[in-house]
Amino acid sequence: VEPPKPLAVRVRPAAEADDGKKKVSVFFGTQTGTAEGFAKALVDEATARYNNASFKVVDLDEYAADDDEYEEKMKKEALAMFFVATYGDGEPTDNAARFYKWFTEGKERGHWLKHLQYAVFGLGNLQYEHFNKIAKVVDEMLSDQGGKRIIPLGLGDDDRCIEDDFTAWRELLWPELDQLLRDENDVSGASTPYTAAIPEYRVVFIKTEDASYLDKSWSLANSHAVHDMQHPCRSNVAVRRELHTPASDRSCTHLEFDIAGTGLRYETGDHVGVFTENCIETVEEAERLLGYSPDTYFSIHADKEDGTPLGQASLSPPFPSPCTLRTALTRYADLLNSPKKSALVALAAHASEPNEAERLRFLASPAGKDEYSQWIVANQRSLLEVMAELPSAKPPLGVFFAAIAPLLQPRYYSISSSPRMAPTRIHVTCALVDETMPTGRIHKGVCSTWMKNSVPSEESQVCSWAPIFVRQSNFKLPADPSLPIIMIGPGTGLAPFRGFLQERWGLKEGGMQLGRAILFFGCRNSKMDFIYKDELNNFVETGVLSELIIAFSREGPIKEYVQHKMTEKASDIWNIISQGGYVYVCGDAKGMARDVHKVLHTICQEQGSLDSSKTESLVKSLQTEGRYLRDVW
Ligand code: 2AM
Repeated sequence: VEPPKPLAVRVRPAAEADDGKKKVSVFFGTQTGTAEGFAKALVDEATARYNNASFKVVDLDEYAADDDEYEEKMKKEALAMFFVATYGDGEPTDNAARFYKWFTEGKERGHWLKHLQYAVFGLGNLQYEHFNKIAKVVDEMLSDQGGKRIIPLGLGDDDRCIEDDFTAWRELLWPELDQLLRDENDVSGASTPYTAAIPEYRVVFIKTEDASYLDKSWSLANSHAVHDMQHPCRSNVAVRRELHTPASDRSCTHLEFDIAGTGLRYETGDHVGVFTENCIETVEEAERLLGYSPDTYFSIHADKEDGTPLGQASLSPPFPSPCTLRTALTRYADLLNSPKKSALVALAAHASEPNEAERLRFLASPAGKDEYSQWIVANQRSLLEVMAELPSAKPPLGVFFAAIAPLLQPRYYSISSSPRMAPTRIHVTCALVDETMPTGRIHKGVCSTWMKNSVPSEESQVCSWAPIFVRQSNFKLPADPSLPIIMIGPGTGLAPFRGFLQERWGLKEGGMQLGRAILFFGCRNSKMDFIYKDELNNFVETGVLSELIIAFSREGPIKEYVQHKMTEKASDIWNIISQGGYVYVCGDAKGMARDVHKVLHTICQEQGSLDSSKTESLVKSLQTEGRYLRDVW
């Protein structure tokens, strides 16, 4: 005789949808689509598991039009999951920025979320200083405001395998959701293991004699009033020149986008997002591996012919079509990053050689974890390399674009000009990414290679162009130009400071009194990569820049970096900070910005004769006051 089951006392989600089902919101804050992908995968599986609940994927930006609506809607949530990525210098993603500001900076609300049960999964990278900061804050604040955390915060680490972190977190979530959402008499999906269906777009092939002229390219007419990531602005490359001397074995491109008459505006310190193109060799290789001709002309759809959705995935197609395969692969497919495990499963489903299918499935399985980390991640094996080594996998295009090749993401650059000096141009300073990978593959950065090879309008009427948009930043000069500033930017970290100096030049021309400005710049050798040398010297001569301090890392017998030069100037730096001045750092986050941060800390501690915790709170307050700003990547 079975012992009687204990009566479980469970709090059930209060909110119910119109159909009587319990409503569950799955929010995402995404920059490159990973958080969104996880949210959708969770909703797909949850929908299959629970008949009496209705799961919805929600973009945090689209959720509410203003703060009041956030409050009103959030109050009604009973059960919610949050997938939130941390980006840049511990910042929320663009689509989570409004929500985050409202939620964390808003008024004191007490325990107003006591009807909410929630779980948070963060997406971050352990290599960065503010690992998963946004998810940690959201998780903590939901709890502080009365919400009940149903499982511990998931800390996804993109430096290793974030898909595995997500899987592990999801396994903790199901037992809790079983308790909350499953009725005693509900047997839906109870014991049947769930296998995710491989997503697929509907592709319609179109027969024409010569399709290429019919191509519906992105943003051909700049008809949108506001340009953003969804509505980029087509702009021509006006100027392109190499900034390194021939003696350098590296390359850095100065590029100017012409924005005259486009309506696109920017401010000093903003970023420009650039939609770029794969180079022709990469595209031809993809065409060969897929087994389609480049002028295959097709349209791509996220719904069925009758207009109903194909699955939980979004209703909008991934890119404008009809277009040729050549265009789709050139503009929209990320072909050079390593494939995700879910992509390997999709490839396996279309591999005609059983050995190859098995190899792909093994790599994606829990048993193949180490092999995946070694063969794919550590070797930085690209999607195309995997397809070339397991060539019987020939997925149809609808599967390729939905499950295998992610969308090619825009690349962001700190704008290196100021509208005061260059109102109709956006300048970019871009170092060429050109590295040999462990497999021997030469990895050429998609956007930096495109920029280096671009044809400017000053050289040819048939010039290069790209869809671009501006992303605002808080990396701004002090509102009061008489306050002193310190700028630290080695290599291409110089970019926004060139903009700052142009801005100061404009202010000076306008008769403004400027405070002191010190720039710490670092490069390898004065004869190779001292970029914008003449301009910088000119800024010093005209008094726009008070002091230019350069660390050459490969000239003398010892390596000198910007932070070593800062130590030499410790008392100057302390004086400027004490006078209410501003400190700006731009460049590599993992190495330079971390080291500079430590040195800044030491300078404050020693010069101010402070103990460690006082120093800590001083540096923190500089950050919260916006007097210590970082633009790092
Ligand atoms: P290196 O290449 O000789 O190591 C711009 O890239 C400059 O930044 C180069 O001189 C580079 O030196 C230097 N650099 C590399 N790592 C750094 C770090 N952790 N801190 C400061 N500068 C660094």
